[in-house]
Amino acid sequence: MLAEKKLYIATFGCQMNEYDSEKMALVLHESGYDLTPDMELADLILLNTCSIRDKAQQKVYSFLGRLHRLKEQKPELIIGVGGCVAQQEGVRLLKRVPHLDLVFGTHGIYRLPDLITRILVKGERVVDTDFHYSFPPPTTIKATRPRIKATVTIMQGCNNFCTYCIVPYVRGREISRPSRDILKEVTGLASSGVAEVTLLGQNVNSYGVEQPDSPSFPELLKQVDAVPNLLRLRFTTSHPKDLSAELIATYGTLKTLCEHIHLPVQTGSDRILRMMNRNYTIESYLNIIKALRRQFPTLAVTSDVIVGFPTETAADFDNTMALIEEIRFDSLFSFCYSDRPGTKATRLPDKVPFEEAARRLAILQDRQKEITLEKNQALEGGEVEVLVEALSKKSDSMLQGRTRSNKVVNFMGSPDLVGHTAMVKVLEGRPNSLLGRQVE
Ligand code: 5AD
Ligand code: SF4
Repeated sequence: MLAEKKLYIATFGCQMNEYDSEKMALVLHESGYDLTPDMELADLILLNTCSIRDKAQQKVYSFLGRLHRLKEQKPELIIGVGGCVAQQEGVRLLKRVPHLDLVFGTHGIYRLPDLITRILVKGERVVDTDFHYSFPPPTTIKATRPRIKATVTIMQGCNNFCTYCIVPYVRGREISRPSRDILKEVTGLASSGVAEVTLLGQNVNSYGVEQPDSPSFPELLKQVDAVPNLLRLRFTTSHPKDLSAELIATYGTLKTLCEHIHLPVQTGSDRILRMMNRNYTIESYLNIIKALRRQFPTLAVTSDVIVGFPTETAADFDNTMALIEEIRFDSLFSFCYSDRPGTKATRLPDKVPFEEAARRLAILQDRQKEITLEKNQALEGGEVEVLVEALSKKSDSMLQGRTRSNKVVNFMGSPDLVGHTAMVKVLEGRPNSLLGRQVE
């Protein structure tokens, strides 16, 4: 069908949501909607939302508040909310926001055309937050603009029920996508010029376990590694409790697999790990890191940490500081604990006052900044392979790309290099990037 109407999508949150937003645009293109970057021109506005922490959720409500005026000026405008906040709030969201037409859950993307038709034909306000547990067939991506990097979902949902986390409630149980669909999607992307693919799942290490005929995650990596024209392969996120020796052995042996792992540790305290229901100990986490570094000594390791989990004492926090000192992560995403509705941790006593959690977070982040800088400086004088992603935002003669270890590199070079790899000598390690010079 010819695209006539305009669609604007506002995406909040993680890479999974970015991927889902791409799929929303694709399915709605079939129903005659074309993406616009200008919200004022849209006939349909969708918010793809995140509820991982309260702050993320508040952003969604304030964005929705701002749409009120637009709806008043243009009553035929359809406004919909999807993703994790929609799944969590359901009909409550429709009650709370009178100018909202549609609430669709995390499994509802492929029913969007039907839901929109119901709104258009019957003038109903629609809620659809049922879980459907199926993956649609892979879409043959017709790239509207050349892309260098893409993500591909390999599984949905999570069975782990970490006590602080809303994900199992809003994304449902784990279900793995058939490997042939994943391979088809990656092959299509690579043949259309995508150089780097990141495989996505809440817990990629348990890929395929619920399906007897499925390859394991390391086997899937091998299959994706063999896709013609793919230069780089990444994946996220891994859970330490499921990380296998077989996976560790893939580093340095699969040509496209980038030498970086994101392995959320969450805390340095065994007592808090137990309360979080993480199912590993700090000792076992350290052993995994040692095994990974034995396999590939310069492997970049990044992580997530939550500070101020209920009952966290100064001594627990000291353990977290000692852990980041021992491991020296290349970089770290760190957050203050946030109560999420319906999770077990919400009901725990002895909440850490927000001011104290924020104080601990600042201490952690200050120290990590120093470690990240030291790690970047340690690369000075060496050479790195950079996949050039774009012209630098600051200057047209500078290019920006990433190393296989996922560090940002800026260097002077020809714009023709965008989409290609270049060897770069590191001149300076900076707090969040490397500055380099291209070598022949
Ligand atoms: N509060 C703070 N941080 C959280 N995360 C998940 N749930 C919460 C919460 N309730 C963090 C974890 C996870 C990352 C994606 O978000 O560190 O790994
Ligand atoms: Fe949330 Fe834990 Fe599942 Fe990660 S593994 S999505 S933190 S429940």
